[in-house]
Amino acid sequence: MCDLFKRELLFKVLVIGDFGVGKTSIIKRYAEGTFSTKYKITIGADFALKQIDWDSETRINIQLWDIAGHERFGYLTSVYYRYAVAAAIVFDLTRPDTFVAVSKWLNDLRDKVSLPHGKPLPVIILANKGDVAANKVPVQIEEFCKKNQIVSWYITSAKENRNIDSAMNRLILEALENQ
Ligand code: GTP
Ligand code: MG
Repeated sequence: MCDLFKRELLFKVLVIGDFGVGKTSIIKRYAEGTFSTKYKITIGADFALKQIDWDSETRINIQLWDIAGHERFGYLTSVYYRYAVAAAIVFDLTRPDTFVAVSKWLNDLRDKVSLPHGKPLPVIILANKGDVAANKVPVQIEEFCKKNQIVSWYITSAKENRNIDSAMNRLILEALENQ
């Protein structure tokens, strides 16, 4: 179909979670197709854009907000969360404490942002660094997701490009249904 007839949507998607879990790496992998083993800490927040031709009538501009792990529950998070339509909470399979922190991130998110009609934001959980610790999935994750209306969870690897596209597609689908 000619571009002129396409509907164009802008989705702001948040990527949150503790420091060093791989938020920036996941976004870089998703938006640019690259990965680096170097850890460059994110200060404040960063952005990336990815355009997807979802179907013949729909183009989606995904604005990924990469929130610094160290910004945790800082006064700025509510500013960063504003107008978001979906969120991914990331933890690091090699550091169990980062899974414990997922519930704090979720509470912070649910406290500070909801959709215009009052519905909660669709949220997915990404268990990252699956290339090194896929066998370390916390046993409570399934129950945690059910209890907290998490859409789905995935073992991801930014390094090996595992599951990132499917996880993001699922989140976009949820956001589309809320349109
Ligand atoms: P902050 O900006 O401090 O909040 O951290 P972050 O969550 O953005 O983490 P970042 O993406 O910078 O990754 C931290 C470190 O983990 C880097 O050294 C990455 O190379 C590494 N890393 C990220 N994802 C993966 C992965 O899937 N597998 C492996 N093996 N390492 C990863
Ligand atoms: Mg970062």
